[in-house]
Amino acid sequence: MPTVLDVNGLSKGFTLHHLAKEIAAFDEISFSVAAGEFLLLKGANGAGKSTLLRTLYRSYLPQAGVIRFHSDHGPIDLARAADVDIAHLRRTEIGFVTQFLTARPRVSAEALVAEPLRLAGVATPEALDRARAALETFGVKPELWPAYPTTFSGGEQQKVNLARTLILPQKLLLLDEPTASLDANARAALVARLAELKAHGTAVIGVFHHPDDVLHLIDRVVDLTPNAIREEVRDDVAF
Ligand SMILES: Nc1ncnc2c1ncn2[C@@H]1O[C@H](COP(=O)(O)OP(=O)(O)O)[C@@H](O)[C@H]1O
Ligand SMILES: [Mg+2]
Repeated sequence: MPTVLDVNGLSKGFTLHHLAKEIAAFDEISFSVAAGEFLLLKGANGAGKSTLLRTLYRSYLPQAGVIRFHSDHGPIDLARAADVDIAHLRRTEIGFVTQFLTARPRVSAEALVAEPLRLAGVATPEALDRARAALETFGVKPELWPAYPTTFSGGEQQKVNLARTLILPQKLLLLDEPTASLDANARAALVARLAELKAHGTAVIGVFHHPDDVLHLIDRVVDLTPNAIREEVRDDVAF
């Protein structure tokens, strides 16, 4: 399978100005992910899992290292790409689900979920039909489809979030504890959709509150616990 992402020597720390000190979230990590591969990120609280995902999505800039993403337009280093290219990739090739919905005021749930399809050129009526089907799959009640998610419960918002981000197969999908606020049915729907996306060739990097849910999908584990990282790098070098 072709490589989707090559991460090399990636380091990220934060400066705590009030303490005049630097703390490392992760240091010199290297790994790669191929199309259709599912990589589980693990590590204790504070090991740097969320920070790594945000850095891959370029919400944070790393201090050092290369994040080579093999986009449809050729390889690009996400650590150095222009903001305009990052914005384009986020619309077309890289998805990110966190525990928080980025709901916009006065945009209905169905319109929010249909948006990626419309941006990809699907006509509005068909996009809305597919959006409603996705909302149904994740267990959002029909009376909520035309309503504004800003007023939804945390779990309902998360279902809208998942329906929207997973409606189109992306090349790279980043997941930060997407099941944390979901009921059992929605968790099962998510796992089924992830299996479909994996079969379709999506590369997945995820942190899971309940890794047992996705055990059958996992191809590789990257452990961000400081001593374990060195193991992983050594494996990569030997490989
Ligand atoms: N924006 C930030 N500013 C300062 N420190 C941060 C910031 N984000 C995360 N950290 C610190 O970086 C470390 C890794 O955090 P995080 O990536 O959230 O861990 P995890 O997701 O594995 O629990 C923690 O020590 C955390 O306090
Ligand atoms: Mg986290």
